[in-house]
Amino acid sequence: MKPVREPQINIFKKSNPYKAKVVSNTLLTPTAGSGKRPKKEGDSQIHRIVVAIDHKQYPYVIGQSAGIIPPGEDPEKKAKGLADAAYTVRLYSISSPSYSFGMKEDTIEFIIKRDNVYDEEGDPKFKGVCSNYVCDLKEGDEVIMTGPSGKKFLLPTTDFSGDIMFLATGTGIAPFIGMSEELLEHKLINFTGNIILVYGAPYSDELVMMDYLKGLESKYKNFKLVTAVSREEKNPFDSGRMYISHRVRMLENEVKKILSSGGRFYICGGPKGMEKGVIEEIQKIAGDTGSYEDYKHHLEGAHQLFVETY
Ligand SMILES: Cc1cc2nc3c(=O)[nH]c(=O)nc-3n(C[C@H](O)[C@H](O)[C@H](O)COP(=O)(O)OP(=O)(O)OC[C@H]3O[C@@H](n4cnc5c(N)ncnc54)[C@H](O)[C@@H]3O)c2cc1C
Ligand SMILES: NC(=O)c1ccc[n+]([C@@H]2O[C@H](COP(=O)([O-])OP(=O)(O)OC[C@H]3O[C@@H](n4cnc5c(N)ncnc54)[C@H](OP(=O)(O)O)[C@@H]3O)[C@@H](O)[C@H]2O)c1
Repeated sequence: MKPVREPQINIFKKSNPYKAKVVSNTLLTPTAGSGKRPKKEGDSQIHRIVVAIDHKQYPYVIGQSAGIIPPGEDPEKKAKGLADAAYTVRLYSISSPSYSFGMKEDTIEFIIKRDNVYDEEGDPKFKGVCSNYVCDLKEGDEVIMTGPSGKKFLLPTTDFSGDIMFLATGTGIAPFIGMSEELLEHKLINFTGNIILVYGAPYSDELVMMDYLKGLESKYKNFKLVTAVSREEKNPFDSGRMYISHRVRMLENEVKKILSSGGRFYICGGPKGMEKGVIEEIQKIAGDTGSYEDYKHHLEGAHQLFVETY
């Protein structure tokens, strides 16, 4: 049995990055124009990228992120005449468990979406630099990485019997793939609680890794998957879009049990600030009438709430 590792941070920086090679790059969503998303809403392409690494050199822990530096120079920095016009590092949540899938210590994985802005016709208006660069990478291509980074969004390090609710929107699913694998399959700690994964996306064909997640659900009685498909499902409260926060309200008993048994909530994804609606639902279920900020602070202080939104 391998130990739970202490998170190490910033072993590799922009000035001394880690160079690794792509093992595979798989499109997880329908090809452009063939999915449920109407043309005028643009496109949503999410990729699973597997990169070969040596864990002795890059000993990441699930819950951490890795930095990726796009090649070339940033035209805005160049126009300003900056001496260092290299692109800024972009962070991506690691989606593979701490010792890689199968405990092989040979890879690191990411779930990355092309972050584009579309016009009213659904044609690309602006294209994200790094996400498109990574989503275009081919097997054998080099990736320049920094990190690992982050030491707060982590799993319990000792045996844990509380229930855990993972709450994801969009690519926020990334860390919960590796976390579920680590808790259920790799068993670095003795975890005897339940996992409830609440996963939101605009369209059902933009929910990724569903075969994997449904596989966990059929294999483990203590793993439950709940989805919130915002543009296909209506919530029962005001008949508006179904969000993960509405699912939290519908999961009142599960939330109460987490709160009373020292369990944990992890929230990841975008848009930034979406955690507020989720935490407010938890606060209502808890019967707490204080301020949102105080309640959030209280849950974080009790190690019951972990947030990574971007
Ligand atoms: C801790 C953390 C974890 C993250 N994890 C993930 C993850 O797991 N998966 C993931 O996909 N992302 C993740 N992200 C987001 C990621 O870091 C990047 O922010 C994202 O990929 C966009 O970077 P980019 O270089 O592609 O876009 P940028 O080039 O930085 O552009 C940002 C946005 O601006 C738009 N834009 C470009 N030019 C203009 C313009 N002139 N006017 C208006 N808009 C413009 C782009 O289309 C894009 O939408 C994470 C972020 C953080 C902080
Ligand atoms: N992934 C990236 O590359 C990236 C990087 C940086 C920032 N972001 C930002 O993060 C946001 C989502 O990005 P994404 O493309 O990863 O996800 P996505 O696939 O668009 O999924 C996000 C889901 O969350 C829903 N949602 C919106 N507001 C919410 C709220 N307040 N509470 C709960 N759910 C909410 C969305 O619903 P509706 O959209 O149907 O309302 C959608 O179903 C965007 O604002 C994006 O700009 C994304």
